Amino acid sequence: MKRFIAYFFPLFVLVSCTTSTTVKSPDGRLSVCFRLTENGQPVYSVHAADRPVIEESPLGLMTQELDLSNGFDLSGLARQSCDTVWETVWGEERLIRDHHNELTVRLQHKSGVKMHIVIRCFDDGFAFRYAFPKQEKKQLTITNELTAYRFAGDPETWSIPWRTEYYEGLWNKMPLSAKTDTLCSPLTMEFADGYACMHEAALTDYPAQNLYVSDGALRTYLTPWLGTGEREVKAYISLPFATPWRMVILTKTLPEMVASRIMLNLNEPCAIADHSWIKPMKFMGIWWGMHIKTMTWEAGPKHGATTANMERYLRFAKQHGIDAVLAEGWNLGWEDWQHFDFTTPYPDWDMTYLSRLAQKLGVEIVGHNETGGNAADYERELDTIYRYHATHGIHAIKTGYVSPIIRTLDGLQWNKGQSGVRHYRKVIETAARYQIAIDNHEPVMPTGLQRTYPNLMTQEGVRGQEWNAWSRDGGSPCEHVTVLPFTRVMAGPVDYTPGVFCFENPVIPETRVHSTLMNQLGLMVCIYSPLQMACDLPENYMRYPDAFRFIERVPCDWERSLLVDGRIGDYCIFARQKRGAEDWYIGGITDEQPREAVVPLTMLTPGQRYRLTLWRDGDEADWLTRPYAYNIEEREVTAADTLTVRMAAGGGFAAEIVPVQ
Ligand code: NOJ
Repeated sequence: MKRFIAYFFPLFVLVSCTTSTTVKSPDGRLSVCFRLTENGQPVYSVHAADRPVIEESPLGLMTQELDLSNGFDLSGLARQSCDTVWETVWGEERLIRDHHNELTVRLQHKSGVKMHIVIRCFDDGFAFRYAFPKQEKKQLTITNELTAYRFAGDPETWSIPWRTEYYEGLWNKMPLSAKTDTLCSPLTMEFADGYACMHEAALTDYPAQNLYVSDGALRTYLTPWLGTGEREVKAYISLPFATPWRMVILTKTLPEMVASRIMLNLNEPCAIADHSWIKPMKFMGIWWGMHIKTMTWEAGPKHGATTANMERYLRFAKQHGIDAVLAEGWNLGWEDWQHFDFTTPYPDWDMTYLSRLAQKLGVEIVGHNETGGNAADYERELDTIYRYHATHGIHAIKTGYVSPIIRTLDGLQWNKGQSGVRHYRKVIETAARYQIAIDNHEPVMPTGLQRTYPNLMTQEGVRGQEWNAWSRDGGSPCEHVTVLPFTRVMAGPVDYTPGVFCFENPVIPETRVHSTLMNQLGLMVCIYSPLQMACDLPENYMRYPDAFRFIERVPCDWERSLLVDGRIGDYCIFARQKRGAEDWYIGGITDEQPREAVVPLTMLTPGQRYRLTLWRDGDEADWLTRPYAYNIEEREVTAADTLTVRMAAGGGFAAEIVPVQ
């Protein structure tokens, strides 16, 4: 499905060094102005409705070979525009519009090196990248990227420090000027009159960006190669080459920020010709038991991944309409985490029997490959491993890299350095050849690559539910999940693993899930993932079968998604329309403050009657004292109605709205 009105009018103009040139958004509100200074340094500024958003800030790169921060002449400009609608393989939306104006600034360095700066301006933000066309020079070794952002004003900013292990931290809010750490991308900012989210797109062969405040501006710190000395190498590039896009979403409201699809638009279209095998799925797993320590990954009396236990999970999934079951700890290597064997099961796991049973039941098995950070060994055997899983009918694998520094084919490296980025991409590409989808744990922060490789379905990179099982700090505060949709989820789908139905853990009693049961249902809608886990044990779900009914019903692939209302770190309410259907699902979650959610049902088709089923916190509910109190209500509604629901402290709600035939 394509409505394609792309048009372009290349324009090559020679202008004097200090002349500025501007590219505007299609609605004319946003403009990015580029200029070369007297000494040939590229700089840019951004205005929204004539008000400065980013004051003049430098661009440029430092390389071992050349100083590419100045000494440029302008050799030409090219402009083009695009207005396209493309269809997602899966997503928060079926159709996405890519509407932007593009300006390519062609620069010639005094050394003879040609460098282009490609700028795209959308109605809801802008992006740019450095591109080196084919030329005499063949290699460059990047030691620093000088891209900076001198924001006008001092916004409240949500971030985690760049060395947060696996990005599993609580997001910290403070004015931008007070941030002293180097920070992970993305960053979310709240201004007096709007919002910004900064990130990067299409990270495929470059280090992940980090950002730090210095001299009044946010500046770029690329994740370095380890072992390259004091003047750290950041990237080895072969020309022609284009860096990832640096992007900034700029909107007046939070619903607009959350609805921005700039990151996906900046990625290349789908590279998998036949993607019919890629299916969004809800899954359960032999997993939570290991985190609450009632089961083990390694063989022994409490071994989780046994044939009998998996058969029980598979049959339960079949009975309750859950698409797939994950099993961790099925393969050799968990005793010491040193040498995992990805093709040899423990003796109490019968892979042939289970894969046949799964096929007979029509339930998928989600494989699990924990590498313990030994990406090198994994990469050497990738084909064998993926062939083995494909032979057993496995179409999804959860990968894991538990080690703050991973061992790649290039030695010990940050996973978000260039070497790690290359490894993850190789896994995704190999998996695609075997028709296997990936759920990447301990990943590099996503950047929209799922548009090109939709088999990259979800990633961790979050302080997920598992922290509520064992974290010695007591578990994540209620507000954590109300921050995520505006921060981590802006970078892409998250394997947060919602759906816990039992909040106390007798093995680690000081830690618990800070949530009501209804908050867990709300999370199934609020935290987007096309591989969505319902993480608790079957027996816990059977304690509240009428609440579990929502998990059975809720889809994980959408026609449309809307943030109905929200405030970062306080609450959020999402409404999502099931893909290809008229059914709507609404989820709400709040922090430790009880609140009333008000949801005008204007998203429904006028004149149509619908049946609403509402799962809501009981009147006495509270995450600490009465987390399991809830009510279920049913009634008829139309687009003229407004749903008003009280959310308890740490609470939430979930609703299903289906047309009455
Ligand atoms: C950490 C992952 O986040 C978790 O989901 C997994 O169970 C363990 N590693 C073991 O691989």
